[in-house]
Parts: sequence; C-alpha cells; structure tokens
Amino acid sequence: MTTFAVADLDQTEAYKLTTGLIIPRPIGWIGTYGADGVPNLAPYSFFQAVATNPPVVLFSTGMADGDVKDTLANCRASGVFTANLVDHDMSVAMNTTAAPVEPSVDEFELAGLTAKRFGSVDAPGVEGAKAVLECRVINEMTLGSAPLEHVLTFGEVVAFHIDDEVLDGTRIDAVKLDALGRLAGTNYATTREQFSLDRPA
Ligand SMILES: Cc1cc2nc3c(=O)[nH]c(=O)nc-3n(C[C@H](O)[C@H](O)[C@H](O)COP(=O)(O)O)c2cc1C
Repeated sequence: MTTFAVADLDQTEAYKLTTGLIIPRPIGWIGTYGADGVPNLAPYSFFQAVATNPPVVLFSTGMADGDVKDTLANCRASGVFTANLVDHDMSVAMNTTAAPVEPSVDEFELAGLTAKRFGSVDAPGVEGAKAVLECRVINEMTLGSAPLEHVLTFGEVVAFHIDDEVLDGTRIDAVKLDALGRLAGTNYATTREQFSLDRPA
C-alpha cells in the first residue's frame, strides 16, 4: 500500500485523493434567487443528507481567495434554497450550470431549463427534475482556513416534491430515479445497478 501523510500533500493532491476515494457522491443541484431576483442554479457534489428528524441536507462550498460563490451568497441573503436531484437525462444541463458565470446570468436559461416556484420557500426548483427538496438554511460552518476554506450550508427540508413515476407510497425506485453520482474529475455513475442485503437480526 502507498501511504500519504496529509501533512505532506499539497491542496491539489488532497483534493484528488479525497474526491477519487469518496465515491459516488450525490449531487445537490442547488437553486436560489439572487438579490436582484435572478434565478441561480449550480451543482454541488459535496452534498449529503445528514439527519432525518427533521430531514437536513448540507452542501459544501469551496472558497478560493475569499471568493464567495453565488449559491452561498444567495443562501446567506435569502435563507432558503432548493436541492434538485440530477438524473442521467439532465446530466448535460447540470454540467452547463457549473459554468463560472456572473451573478446576473440566469443558469436555468443558460441550460435550457425552467425555474419553477414549488411554493414552500422562495427559491427556484428545476421543472422536470424527478425530485426537488425545498430547504430553509439552519446553520453554517466553516472548515479549514483562508484562502481555501470550505463553508458548509445546512438546510432543513420543508417539502419534498417527487415525480410519481419514481414513487410508490414513500418508497423511491432508485433505478427509475436514475440519479447521478459524481466520481473523480468528469466521471459519473448512476443508480441503475444495485443489489440487496438483508440486515442482521
Ligand atoms: C458535478 C459537479 C459538482 C460540483 N461540486 C461542487 C462542490 O461540492 N462545491 C463547490 O464549491 N463547487 C462544486 N462544483 C463547482 C460549482 O458548480 C461551480 O463553481 C459553479 O460555478 C458555482 O456556481 P455559483 O457561483 O452559481 O454557485 C461542482 C461542479 C460540478 C460539475
């Protein structure tokens, strides 16, 4: 085995090892409104569910030289966001919304998507996404230190909107959901392949 002591790694090496090993990572496609009302959408694969009572998700913003990404700035100002699930059919649109564009650019429009209000929070969701989680920001935490710190944004889910096609009661069909998982770099996996294991008594 090769051992890497983190103290000996530069930032790029630490990034590559972390994102190459912690796979597949779910993608939160985060929708917000800017202060001027412009809809904003961007993918975050440092995204996770971290509680269920109430349901809480988080995404992590990588800072570079104090540059605050639009999603984080909007969450701080509005206190709300949507986390949209990305399925395979939406992968190209998702990738388009990762472009580093000015806050004045509507990334929904850029990617040929429609921003839709789902009614519980004032943040835009992706029309046609198989699941849209409406969230209220409940906490923020900073990890690491400038110029390359990460800011975690915690959102309590106030409503789940789920396509009936993928739903059976409260069970989700992972194959039909066809959600993307991010691997290293530009590679992705889907939730089409799966197997079951009975839990020990
Ligand atoms: C699949 C994917 C996942 C990404 N995950 C993250 C992430 O977890 N954290 C982050 O800071 N940037 C991430 N990015 C980059 C952002 O999407 C990119 O910086 C984007 O321009 C941010 O947009 P915003 O300024 O509108 O928030 C990711 C990009 C892609 C394509």
